[in-house]
Amino acid sequence: MMADQWIAIARENELAPGQMKRVSAAGKRLLLCNADGKHHVVDEMCSHEDYSLYLGCIQEGRIKCSLHGSYFDLETGKPDCEPASEAISVYEVKIVDGQVWVRV
Ligand code: FES
Repeated sequence: MMADQWIAIARENELAPGQMKRVSAAGKRLLLCNADGKHHVVDEMCSHEDYSLYLGCIQEGRIKCSLHGSYFDLETGKPDCEPASEAISVYEVKIVDGQVWVRV
């Protein structure tokens, strides 16, 4: 298995609160989310069906899937309502010198 690595994916001020950006890093499709000024990185695709969470929206630290309406906590990846029952992956984020980094 390859060791984890940190990858720069955006400028710190690139996304306004509530905005998202699709990024690909280490072969994964990820979503950078700015939730009220805090950056999170999660899987781009919903755990319920193969549907992009980029088409959803960020609300109170959660991301909503616009296909069937499940919400996922951006800290834990866990869904807090049906129909999704499995968590999406969340990734460690750090901000260094005005750059957002993700660990993958
Ligand atoms: S595809 Fe996301 S909740 Fe169904």
